[in-house]
Amino acid sequence: PRPVVSALFGLCLLTGCAGDSPSALNPGGAGASRVANLWWLLFWISVAVFVEVMALLVWALVFRRGDVRVRHGQPLRFVAIAGAAIPFVILVAVYGAGLRDLAALGAAPDRDAPTVEVTGHTWWWEVRYAGASGATANEIHIPVGERVRVRLRTDDVLHSFWVPQLMPKTDLIAGETRETWLQAERAGSYRGQCAEYCGTQHAHMAFLVVAQPRAEFDAWLARLDAPARQPQTDAERRGEQAFVQGTCAACHSIRGTGAQGTVGPDLSNVGSRWSIGAGAVPNDAGHLGGWIANSQTVKPGNAMPPQQVEAARLPDLIAYLRSLE
Ligand code: CUA
Repeated sequence: PRPVVSALFGLCLLTGCAGDSPSALNPGGAGASRVANLWWLLFWISVAVFVEVMALLVWALVFRRGDVRVRHGQPLRFVAIAGAAIPFVILVAVYGAGLRDLAALGAAPDRDAPTVEVTGHTWWWEVRYAGASGATANEIHIPVGERVRVRLRTDDVLHSFWVPQLMPKTDLIAGETRETWLQAERAGSYRGQCAEYCGTQHAHMAFLVVAQPRAEFDAWLARLDAPARQPQTDAERRGEQAFVQGTCAACHSIRGTGAQGTVGPDLSNVGSRWSIGAGAVPNDAGHLGGWIANSQTVKPGNAMPPQQVEAARLPDLIAYLRSLE
């Protein structure tokens, strides 16, 4: 029956449905667990207050109808307790819980914790690691179970760094370096999102946090220091040549090649990334070709102008970029 289905669906929304939901109520780490617990505390207090108010209303309407005599002293005591003392206790308790969580969420990780340096650009995330020379974009890898320090800066306007399943929002303020941390209890991918309106493509300023076992993370990080993968096929070699000698290299860099542009994302491992355009479209050959030809039709307003690529060169460029892992 429909009411039962609706009720179950509502309940499902409330629980975040566990599973793969990117909801803050489906925490995957210590930071988000605190936020979720605080949320549930407020939720159940609200439920208790709502039920109590409704019960009193029903009692007044149904059982006390017509009885207007009030004994002296009684209403005043009721107002003092139900209207002032009880709310005071609740608010102080919630305030205390909030302060406790704020302190815990603001605590710096160990001094030797891995450090990720994230810079917000309209509309993508530049990702670097302390001690590593290379860069990647819109994808942050972290070792499972460890607290990773995240240093946040913005290159232009305000952005906000948010991974609902791992940590609450931290704003990126022009001229300041902010710090937060990430920690994931289990391996997997966690979606992140810019949470401060920053222009027309604010919605397409997503990123992914990939938590992996320490050894895998170390191997991934080591590749961030090494030259990009060499082209293996003729098509890939022609693609590399077109990339380095064409306009691509004016804005993008690929480690170990002549392409050293710094305007757009570093593309040294672009073939392995989860998306193109910070979550705008999936990272596959078709979308990559469309993006190179005219990214303005995919993500209007982004900094990359339409490219005049020779039709015969496009498949080579796609083959080369897809091979960079
Ligand atoms: Cu960056 Cu919204």
